Amino acid sequence: MSRRVAVLGSTGSIGTQALEVIEESPELILHSIVCGSSTEKLKKQSDRYSPLFAACARSGNKKDILARALDGADTVLNAIVGSAGLEASLLAQEMQLPLALANKESLVVGSHLLQSHLTSGKVIPVDSEHSTIYRCIQGEARKINGITLTASGGSLRDTPVNEIYNALPEKVLAHPTWEMGGRITVDSATMVNKAFEVLEARALFPEVPIDVVIHRSSIVHSFIESADGAWKALMGLPDMKVPIAWALLFPDLPTLSIASENPLDWGNLSFQRMEKERYPAFYSVLSAGDTGGTAPAAANAADEIAIQAFLERKIPFGAIATIIEKVLSITKSEPVEDFSHILHVDSEARVNARKAVELICSQ
Ligand SMILES: NC(=O)c1ccc[n+]([C@@H]2O[C@H](COP(=O)([O-])OP(=O)(O)OC[C@H]3O[C@@H](n4cnc5c(N)ncnc54)[C@H](OP(=O)(O)O)[C@@H]3O)[C@@H](O)[C@H]2O)c1
Repeated sequence: MSRRVAVLGSTGSIGTQALEVIEESPELILHSIVCGSSTEKLKKQSDRYSPLFAACARSGNKKDILARALDGADTVLNAIVGSAGLEASLLAQEMQLPLALANKESLVVGSHLLQSHLTSGKVIPVDSEHSTIYRCIQGEARKINGITLTASGGSLRDTPVNEIYNALPEKVLAHPTWEMGGRITVDSATMVNKAFEVLEARALFPEVPIDVVIHRSSIVHSFIESADGAWKALMGLPDMKVPIAWALLFPDLPTLSIASENPLDWGNLSFQRMEKERYPAFYSVLSAGDTGGTAPAAANAADEIAIQAFLERKIPFGAIATIIEKVLSITKSEPVEDFSHILHVDSEARVNARKAVELICSQ
């Protein structure tokens, strides 16, 4: 039977690829599309793909718009960027709709609020690493001893450490292996993205130890190690259409026509430890995750503000880590009560992050 899909964040990198996946898949029907404010792009998508509903979330009451987009859908792809995506994930949970989740921030800031959807198996990850783990554990009878997430190392992985602080946006945005939206590309350079992925993995696969290794070619999309010492991985050239299709169709299998690959073209598959001094923000965000409660929401908000300021050339690249650290140092972590509590922490952290940006600009 066909599935009607609501694509949230349709104008972004994941959203655009999702529309292509849906067009290519006879089992999927595009039901609705929602973006933030890219009116023209949304109009073009609407003309091209003819969904039943299309809207910009910032053009009216966001909750009503999301509810209309989800009404009548069989599954939801949440590809909104940032903590703005949490509301949509909560709505999918409320409406008991399967959630293909690209918006990792939903789990970083609000995993406590998504527990019923997580435990009922209705959250299917789109992130390539988590999709890999999800696929590797299907039908796996053995106990899982550990998960290893692979990381490309981002655009500054070969930049001398003393030049990283002043790296310019055009260099930071030139990711070596993946083509992605602006925020996640900067987050890859700081490895905040990988820290978020660790928190995402903790929410999706609780109680399994998680490690991170640098794997430059992004061919191995992560591993699991089972109790008998065997490792399982998923390999292939980087292509987000695979995890997108997989999440939209699970438990059925996609019928995408993906170009076949030859392992001889992959070269050497190497794995390295992360250099601590190269990625200070990774460790700050990870420790916010260890603190738990509202701390990751504050870290995420600080990161969003700092990235925006960096891309607007107001602060140097290295200040992103400083701002996250500063905001975390003045934020008291509390157990998450509800959505409005997260919103409150998020907006308070944004105010503090903006102050930190102003301070850096004035120096
Ligand atoms: N790109 C990848 O390869 C990749 C891989 C794994 C995971 N992810 C995750 O997927 C998510 C999306 O990433 P992306 O790279 O596709 O981002 P992106 O290219 O920046 O696109 C973001 C999308 O979110 C929409 N949006 C922004 N604010 C919104 C709001 N307040 N309400 C509703 N929609 C809003 C944007 O609409 P406008 O165009 O109107 O601003 C756009 O459609 C992120 O959480 C990212 O971490 C991405």
